[in-house]
Amino acid sequence: MTTRIPRIAPSEITPPETYFNRRAFLSAALAAGAGATLGRAAAAVVPAAAGAPLQYRYDAADSVGALVHAPDQDETPNTWEQITHYNNFYEFGIGKGDPARYAGQLQTRPWNLAVAGEAEVTGSFPLEKFLNPYALEERIYRFRCVEAWSMVIPWVGFPLAALLKQFKPTSRAKYVTFETLYRPSQMPGQRVPILKWPYLEGLRIDEAMNPLAFMVVGLYGRVLPNQNGAPLRLIVPWKYGFKSIKSIVRIAFTEQQPQTTWSVAAPNEYGFYANVNPNVPHPRWSQASERRIGASLFHERQATLMFNGYAKEVAYLYKGMNLHTYF
Ligand code: MTE
Repeated sequence: MTTRIPRIAPSEITPPETYFNRRAFLSAALAAGAGATLGRAAAAVVPAAAGAPLQYRYDAADSVGALVHAPDQDETPNTWEQITHYNNFYEFGIGKGDPARYAGQLQTRPWNLAVAGEAEVTGSFPLEKFLNPYALEERIYRFRCVEAWSMVIPWVGFPLAALLKQFKPTSRAKYVTFETLYRPSQMPGQRVPILKWPYLEGLRIDEAMNPLAFMVVGLYGRVLPNQNGAPLRLIVPWKYGFKSIKSIVRIAFTEQQPQTTWSVAAPNEYGFYANVNPNVPHPRWSQASERRIGASLFHERQATLMFNGYAKEVAYLYKGMNLHTYF
Protein backbone atom coordinates (compact mmCIF):
# COMPACT_ATOMS: atom_id res chain seq x y z
CA MET A 1 0.00 0.00 0.00
CA THR A 2 1.31 3.45 -0.73
CA THR A 3 0.75 6.34 1.64
CA ARG A 4 0.78 9.79 0.18
CA ILE A 5 1.51 12.66 2.51
CA PRO A 6 -0.49 15.60 1.18
CA ARG A 7 1.32 18.74 0.20
CA ILE A 8 0.44 21.69 2.43
CA ALA A 9 -1.53 24.18 0.40
CA PRO A 10 -0.03 27.64 0.80
CA SER A 11 -3.39 28.88 2.07
CA GLU A 12 -3.23 26.36 4.92
CA ILE A 13 0.08 27.61 6.22
CA THR A 14 -0.28 29.54 9.41
CA PRO A 15 1.60 32.78 9.83
CA PRO A 16 5.11 32.08 11.06
CA GLU A 17 4.61 33.91 14.34
CA THR A 18 1.91 31.43 15.35
CA TYR A 19 3.28 28.43 13.53
CA PHE A 20 6.80 28.56 14.85
CA ASN A 21 7.68 29.17 18.45
CA ARG A 22 6.72 32.82 18.84
CA ARG A 23 9.70 33.79 20.92
CA ALA A 24 12.15 32.13 18.53
CA PHE A 25 10.50 33.90 15.63
CA LEU A 26 10.66 37.29 17.29
CA SER A 27 14.29 36.99 18.35
CA ALA A 28 15.21 35.72 14.90
CA ALA A 29 13.38 38.60 13.27
CA LEU A 30 15.16 41.03 15.56
CA ALA A 31 18.51 39.43 14.78
CA ALA A 32 17.79 39.70 11.08
CA GLY A 33 16.86 43.34 11.42
CA ALA A 34 14.98 45.47 8.94
CA GLY A 35 15.27 44.41 5.32
CA ALA A 36 16.41 40.90 6.13
CA THR A 37 18.30 39.13 3.42
CA LEU A 38 18.66 35.42 2.92
CA GLY A 39 22.07 35.54 4.53
CA ARG A 40 21.03 37.43 7.66
CA ALA A 41 17.84 35.65 8.50
CA ALA A 42 17.23 33.66 11.11
CA ALA A 43 18.08 30.71 13.16
CA ALA A 44 15.24 28.63 14.56
CA VAL A 45 12.56 29.53 12.05
CA VAL A 46 13.17 26.56 9.77
CA PRO A 47 12.04 23.37 11.51
CA ALA A 48 14.58 20.56 11.56
CA ALA A 49 12.50 17.40 11.72
CA ALA A 50 12.18 15.52 8.45
CA GLY A 51 8.59 15.60 7.26
CA ALA A 52 7.58 18.67 9.35
CA PRO A 53 5.68 21.30 7.35
CA LEU A 54 7.77 24.07 5.81
CA GLN A 55 6.90 27.68 5.32
CA TYR A 56 7.34 28.69 1.69
CA ARG A 57 6.41 31.33 -0.77
CA TYR A 58 3.79 30.80 -3.41
CA ASP A 59 3.15 33.59 -5.82
CA ALA A 60 1.01 32.72 -8.82
CA ALA A 61 2.20 35.84 -10.61
CA ASP A 62 5.73 34.59 -10.23
CA SER A 63 4.69 31.24 -11.71
CA VAL A 64 7.92 29.48 -10.84
CA GLY A 65 5.86 26.99 -8.85
CA ALA A 66 5.43 24.58 -11.75
CA LEU A 67 8.22 24.21 -14.26
CA VAL A 68 7.64 20.75 -15.64
CA HIS A 69 7.94 21.71 -19.30
CA ALA A 70 6.68 18.72 -21.23
CA PRO A 71 2.95 19.20 -21.78
CA ASP A 72 2.65 16.16 -24.05
CA GLN A 73 3.98 13.84 -21.36
CA ASP A 74 2.35 12.93 -18.07
CA GLU A 75 3.74 15.45 -15.62
CA THR A 76 1.77 14.47 -12.55
CA PRO A 77 4.18 14.66 -9.62
CA ASN A 78 5.31 11.33 -8.26
CA THR A 79 3.99 10.35 -4.86
CA TRP A 80 5.78 11.04 -1.59
CA GLU A 81 6.22 7.27 -1.24
CA GLN A 82 7.91 6.92 -4.63
CA ILE A 83 10.17 9.94 -4.18
CA THR A 84 11.29 8.86 -0.71
CA HIS A 85 11.60 5.09 -1.25
CA TYR A 86 13.28 4.79 -4.65
CA ASN A 87 16.58 6.55 -4.08
CA ASN A 88 20.23 6.67 -4.98
CA PHE A 89 22.35 7.65 -1.99
CA TYR A 90 25.34 5.30 -1.93
CA GLU A 91 26.42 6.56 1.48
CA PHE A 92 23.58 4.35 2.76
CA GLY A 93 23.96 1.41 0.37
CA ILE A 94 23.49 0.68 -3.31
CA GLY A 95 19.93 -0.70 -3.18
CA LYS A 96 17.11 1.68 -4.09
CA GLY A 97 15.48 0.97 -0.71
CA ASP A 98 18.66 1.29 1.37
CA PRO A 99 18.53 5.09 1.85
CA ALA A 100 14.97 4.96 3.26
CA ARG A 101 16.01 2.07 5.49
CA TYR A 102 19.25 3.50 6.87
CA ALA A 103 19.29 7.28 6.47
CA GLY A 104 17.17 7.87 9.59
CA GLN A 105 20.32 7.55 11.73
CA LEU A 106 21.94 10.58 10.08
CA GLN A 107 21.96 13.61 12.41
CA THR A 108 21.22 16.71 10.36
CA ARG A 109 21.38 19.25 13.19
CA PRO A 110 23.65 20.93 14.01
CA TRP A 111 24.91 21.30 10.43
CA ASN A 112 27.71 23.53 9.24
CA LEU A 113 28.40 24.71 5.72
CA ALA A 114 32.05 25.45 4.88
CA VAL A 115 32.84 27.92 2.11
CA ALA A 116 36.32 27.99 0.58
CA GLY A 117 38.39 29.08 -2.40
CA GLU A 118 37.99 32.04 -4.74
CA ALA A 119 35.47 34.10 -2.78
CA GLU A 120 35.53 37.09 -0.46
CA VAL A 121 33.41 35.37 2.17
CA THR A 122 34.89 32.06 3.34
CA GLY A 123 34.68 30.11 6.58
CA SER A 124 32.34 27.72 8.32
CA PHE A 125 28.78 28.79 9.10
CA PRO A 126 25.75 27.19 10.76
CA LEU A 127 23.30 26.20 8.04
CA GLU A 128 20.52 28.28 9.64
CA LYS A 129 22.37 31.39 8.59
CA PHE A 130 21.36 30.68 5.01
CA LEU A 131 17.80 29.43 5.52
CA ASN A 132 15.07 32.01 5.40
CA PRO A 133 11.55 30.61 5.19
CA TYR A 134 10.40 33.75 3.43
CA ALA A 135 12.79 33.08 0.57
CA LEU A 136 11.72 29.47 0.03
CA GLU A 137 9.69 28.60 -3.03
CA GLU A 138 8.31 25.50 -4.68
CA ARG A 139 9.63 24.21 -8.01
CA ILE A 140 8.06 21.20 -9.68
CA TYR A 141 10.87 19.78 -11.82
CA ARG A 142 11.35 16.75 -14.02
CA PHE A 143 14.14 14.58 -12.61
CA ARG A 144 16.10 12.25 -14.92
CA CYS A 145 18.59 9.70 -13.59
CA VAL A 146 21.46 8.53 -15.80
CA GLU A 147 20.08 5.01 -15.25
CA ALA A 148 17.17 6.00 -17.56
CA TRP A 149 14.39 6.32 -15.00
CA SER A 150 12.60 9.58 -14.24
CA MET A 151 10.18 11.26 -11.86
CA VAL A 152 8.42 14.62 -11.44
CA ILE A 153 9.17 16.15 -8.04
CA PRO A 154 7.81 19.18 -6.12
CA TRP A 155 10.92 20.48 -4.38
CA VAL A 156 11.04 23.40 -1.94
CA GLY A 157 14.17 25.53 -1.83
CA PHE A 158 15.84 28.64 -3.15
CA PRO A 159 18.00 29.48 -6.17
CA LEU A 160 21.61 28.36 -5.94
CA ALA A 161 22.62 31.76 -7.32
CA ALA A 162 21.08 33.46 -4.27
CA LEU A 163 23.30 31.37 -2.00
CA LEU A 164 26.50 31.75 -4.02
CA LYS A 165 26.19 35.52 -4.42
CA GLN A 166 26.39 35.90 -0.64
CA PHE A 167 29.95 34.54 -0.72
CA LYS A 168 31.04 37.13 -3.32
CA PRO A 169 32.98 34.85 -5.68
CA THR A 170 36.05 36.56 -7.22
CA SER A 171 36.64 36.87 -10.97
CA ARG A 172 38.94 33.83 -10.71
CA ALA A 173 35.99 31.61 -9.67
CA LYS A 174 35.26 29.64 -12.84
CA TYR A 175 33.80 26.55 -11.16
CA VAL A 176 32.02 25.65 -7.97
CA THR A 177 32.45 22.32 -6.14
CA PHE A 178 30.10 20.72 -3.66
CA GLU A 179 31.00 18.09 -1.09
CA THR A 180 28.77 15.68 0.84
CA LEU A 181 29.22 14.95 4.54
CA TYR A 182 31.77 12.23 5.34
CA ARG A 183 30.57 10.48 8.51
CA PRO A 184 30.96 6.68 8.25
CA SER A 185 29.55 6.21 11.78
CA GLN A 186 26.14 7.33 10.47
CA MET A 187 26.60 6.61 6.76
CA PRO A 188 27.31 2.87 6.57
CA GLY A 189 27.94 2.89 2.80
CA GLN A 190 31.06 4.99 3.43
CA ARG A 191 32.64 2.06 5.27
CA VAL A 192 32.91 0.34 1.89
CA PRO A 193 35.02 1.77 -0.96
CA ILE A 194 32.26 1.59 -3.61
CA LEU A 195 33.04 5.22 -4.48
CA LYS A 196 35.81 7.59 -3.48
CA TRP A 197 34.41 9.41 -0.44
CA PRO A 198 33.33 12.07 0.18
CA TYR A 199 30.96 12.40 -2.79
CA LEU A 200 31.95 15.44 -4.88
CA GLU A 201 30.14 17.33 -7.62
CA GLY A 202 30.74 20.53 -9.52
CA LEU A 203 29.37 23.04 -11.99
CA ARG A 204 30.78 25.77 -14.16
CA ILE A 205 30.03 29.07 -12.45
CA ASP A 206 27.67 30.24 -15.21
CA GLU A 207 25.73 26.96 -14.94
CA ALA A 208 25.53 27.45 -11.19
CA MET A 209 24.16 30.96 -11.63
CA ASN A 210 21.40 29.82 -14.03
CA PRO A 211 18.05 30.46 -12.34
CA LEU A 212 16.99 26.80 -12.65
CA ALA A 213 19.84 25.55 -10.42
CA PHE A 214 18.16 25.07 -7.06
CA MET A 215 19.17 24.42 -3.44
CA VAL A 216 16.61 22.11 -1.89
CA VAL A 217 15.52 21.87 1.74
CA GLY A 218 12.04 20.42 1.27
CA LEU A 219 9.73 18.16 -0.63
CA TYR A 220 5.92 18.37 -0.94
CA GLY A 221 5.99 21.38 1.37
CA ARG A 222 7.74 19.45 4.12
CA VAL A 223 11.26 19.26 5.48
CA LEU A 224 13.42 17.11 3.20
CA PRO A 225 13.72 13.49 4.38
CA ASN A 226 17.29 12.30 5.01
CA GLN A 227 17.21 9.79 2.16
CA ASN A 228 16.62 12.65 -0.31
CA GLY A 229 19.67 14.59 0.89
CA ALA A 230 18.74 16.50 4.04
CA PRO A 231 19.36 19.07 5.21
CA LEU A 232 20.58 20.71 1.98
CA ARG A 233 21.02 19.34 -1.54
CA LEU A 234 21.48 20.59 -5.03
CA ILE A 235 19.02 20.04 -7.89
CA VAL A 236 20.16 20.71 -11.46
CA PRO A 237 17.11 19.63 -13.45
CA TRP A 238 18.69 19.67 -16.92
CA LYS A 239 21.48 17.29 -15.89
CA TYR A 240 21.51 13.62 -14.95
CA GLY A 241 20.58 13.06 -11.32
CA PHE A 242 24.10 12.24 -10.12
CA LYS A 243 24.99 15.95 -10.44
CA SER A 244 22.31 16.70 -7.81
CA ILE A 245 24.54 16.10 -4.79
CA LYS A 246 22.99 15.45 -1.39
CA SER A 247 23.70 16.48 2.22
CA ILE A 248 26.17 19.22 1.33
CA VAL A 249 28.74 20.38 3.91
CA ARG A 250 31.21 22.28 1.76
CA ILE A 251 31.19 24.62 -1.22
CA ALA A 252 34.44 25.73 -2.89
CA PHE A 253 35.07 28.16 -5.75
CA THR A 254 37.92 27.12 -8.05
CA GLU A 255 39.74 28.30 -11.14
CA GLN A 256 40.18 24.76 -12.51
CA GLN A 257 37.49 22.24 -13.33
CA PRO A 258 37.11 20.11 -10.19
CA GLN A 259 37.18 16.33 -9.94
CA THR A 260 33.73 14.85 -9.51
CA THR A 261 32.95 11.47 -7.99
CA TRP A 262 31.33 9.66 -10.91
CA SER A 263 33.66 11.06 -13.56
CA VAL A 264 36.61 9.81 -11.47
CA ALA A 265 34.96 6.40 -10.91
CA ALA A 266 34.17 5.80 -14.60
CA PRO A 267 35.38 8.63 -16.88
CA ASN A 268 34.12 6.96 -20.07
CA GLU A 269 30.61 6.63 -18.70
CA TYR A 270 29.98 9.76 -16.64
CA GLY A 271 31.26 13.13 -17.77
CA PHE A 272 31.63 16.40 -15.89
CA TYR A 273 28.76 18.01 -17.82
CA ALA A 274 26.23 15.14 -17.69
CA ASN A 275 23.56 17.13 -19.50
CA VAL A 276 20.48 15.02 -20.26
CA ASN A 277 20.89 14.18 -23.94
CA PRO A 278 18.86 11.56 -25.82
CA ASN A 279 21.42 11.59 -28.66
CA VAL A 280 24.44 10.54 -26.60
CA PRO A 281 24.00 6.96 -25.38
CA HIS A 282 25.63 5.73 -22.22
CA PRO A 283 28.26 3.16 -23.32
CA ARG A 284 26.07 0.39 -21.89
CA TRP A 285 22.52 1.60 -22.66
CA SER A 286 20.50 4.03 -24.76
CA GLN A 287 19.46 7.40 -23.34
CA ALA A 288 16.75 7.93 -26.00
CA SER A 289 13.91 6.95 -23.67
CA GLU A 290 13.24 6.71 -19.96
CA ARG A 291 11.07 4.77 -17.53
CA ARG A 292 8.76 7.00 -15.51
CA ILE A 293 8.59 5.59 -11.99
CA GLY A 294 5.00 4.69 -11.13
CA ALA A 295 3.66 4.79 -14.70
CA SER A 296 1.50 1.91 -15.90
CA LEU A 297 3.33 -0.94 -17.61
CA PHE A 298 1.80 0.08 -20.95
CA HIS A 299 3.03 3.67 -20.77
CA GLU A 300 6.14 3.13 -18.75
CA ARG A 301 8.67 4.46 -21.28
CA GLN A 302 8.65 7.92 -22.74
CA ALA A 303 11.01 9.90 -24.95
CA THR A 304 13.91 11.60 -23.20
CA LEU A 305 14.05 15.32 -23.96
CA MET A 306 17.17 17.37 -24.69
CA PHE A 307 18.31 19.02 -21.46
CA ASN A 308 15.43 17.12 -19.83
CA GLY A 309 12.96 19.59 -21.38
CA TYR A 310 14.75 22.76 -20.20
CA ALA A 311 16.57 23.64 -23.45
CA LYS A 312 14.92 27.05 -23.66
CA GLU A 313 16.48 28.07 -20.34
CA VAL A 314 19.90 26.42 -20.56
CA ALA A 315 20.96 25.65 -24.17
CA TYR A 316 22.84 28.99 -24.38
CA LEU A 317 25.33 27.69 -21.81
CA TYR A 318 26.66 25.11 -24.27
CA LYS A 319 26.63 27.08 -27.53
CA GLY A 320 29.49 25.94 -29.78
CA MET A 321 30.39 22.97 -27.55
CA ASN A 322 30.44 19.46 -28.99
CA LEU A 323 28.06 17.69 -26.62
CA HIS A 324 29.41 14.28 -27.68
CA THR A 325 32.86 15.27 -26.41
CA TYR A 326 31.68 17.26 -23.40
CA PHE A 327 29.15 14.65 -22.27
N1 MTE B 1 24.55 12.45 -3.62
C1 MTE B 1 25.33 11.71 -2.79
N2 MTE B 1 26.00 12.33 -1.82
N3 MTE B 1 25.43 10.36 -2.91
C2 MTE B 1 24.79 9.69 -3.91
O1 MTE B 1 24.93 8.46 -4.00
N4 MTE B 1 23.33 9.85 -5.87
C3 MTE B 1 22.99 10.71 -7.01
C4 MTE B 1 22.33 12.01 -6.55
N5 MTE B 1 23.06 12.59 -5.44
C5 MTE B 1 23.98 10.44 -4.82
C6 MTE B 1 23.86 11.84 -4.62
C7 MTE B 1 22.13 10.04 -7.98
S1 MTE B 1 22.87 8.87 -8.95
C8 MTE B 1 20.83 10.36 -8.13
S2 MTE B 1 19.91 9.71 -9.39
C9 MTE B 1 20.15 11.29 -7.22
O2 MTE B 1 21.00 11.73 -6.16
C10 MTE B 1 18.96 10.61 -6.61
O3 MTE B 1 18.21 11.52 -5.85
P1 MTE B 1 16.90 11.00 -5.12
O4 MTE B 1 17.25 9.79 -4.34
O5 MTE B 1 16.41 12.14 -4.27
O6 MTE B 1 15.90 10.67 -6.23
